[in-house]
Amino acid sequence: MTIELKGQHVLVVGAAGGIGEATVKAFAAVGAQVVATGRNTDKLISLAAVTGAETALVDFLDNDAVEAFFESTAPFDHVVIAAAATKSGAISTLAIEDAKASMESKFWGAYRIARAVRINTGGSLTFVSGFLSHRPSATSVLQGAINAALEALGRGLALERAPVRVNTVSPGMIDTPLWSGMSEADRQRLFEQAAAKLPAQRIGQPEDIAQAILFLATNPFATGATVMIDGGGTIA
Ligand SMILES: NC(=O)c1ccc[n+]([C@@H]2O[C@H](COP(=O)([O-])OP(=O)(O)OC[C@H]3O[C@@H](n4cnc5c(N)ncnc54)[C@H](OP(=O)(O)O)[C@@H]3O)[C@@H](O)[C@H]2O)c1
Repeated sequence: MTIELKGQHVLVVGAAGGIGEATVKAFAAVGAQVVATGRNTDKLISLAAVTGAETALVDFLDNDAVEAFFESTAPFDHVVIAAAATKSGAISTLAIEDAKASMESKFWGAYRIARAVRINTGGSLTFVSGFLSHRPSATSVLQGAINAALEALGRGLALERAPVRVNTVSPGMIDTPLWSGMSEADRQRLFEQAAAKLPAQRIGQPEDIAQAILFLATNPFATGATVMIDGGGTIA
């Protein structure tokens, strides 16, 4: 048995990002009624034009805005949180304010949404973490810790919010705007070097993650899970 998504009320938080956008498109393609939220108006408007999604500007750092948004919307069937803005770097050199802001964004932003959102029975909530929780990097220790916290939040909420199902997708390196701070040449070099070390022999695409998110939303026996979609990065 799989859960039918046609006509389901779906919320994607962070819809202007690479994984968020692919997730909106994947849900819209199977007939879901998607609400795409973020803080980039232009990106949301163009996404709405392509997918027919409704859009809403919601900064997930703003608790009042988050609560007001959920008070003014009907409960959702499926919710995906793909928003984050984090800084990486060695713990010894990363300013403590930047480290706290990263946790405030990716962990507390997701927590805030999870706390306020109303989800229908039979529905699901999916977080997006990252493979660094299982395979730490010496230059991104904080990212691994934030991802581990998010995965633990997902497992705990799967108990607290049952029968709503709560899961986490943990991506490896994915080709999204997250890497746009690098020059094109540096990014290509990074992706090629990383792909060569992966069993999958390629970098992930946002659609790879969106597919896993739809799987978790539609599988009625999936809850409390963390699904690694990392090209084998954790075992390489
Ligand atoms: N790409 C990878 O290699 C990779 C690997 C592992 C894990 N992940 C995780 O996957 C998730 C999605 O990443 P991505 O690659 O899709 O990144 P992305 O393209 O940078 O998208 C992140 C999105 O989050 C939005 N966002 C940030 N702060 C927000 C806020 N306060 N309120 C609302 N929206 C906010 C950003 O909006 P703005 O454009 O306005 O900043 C952006 O649209 C993140 O949690 C990331 O850590 C990604």
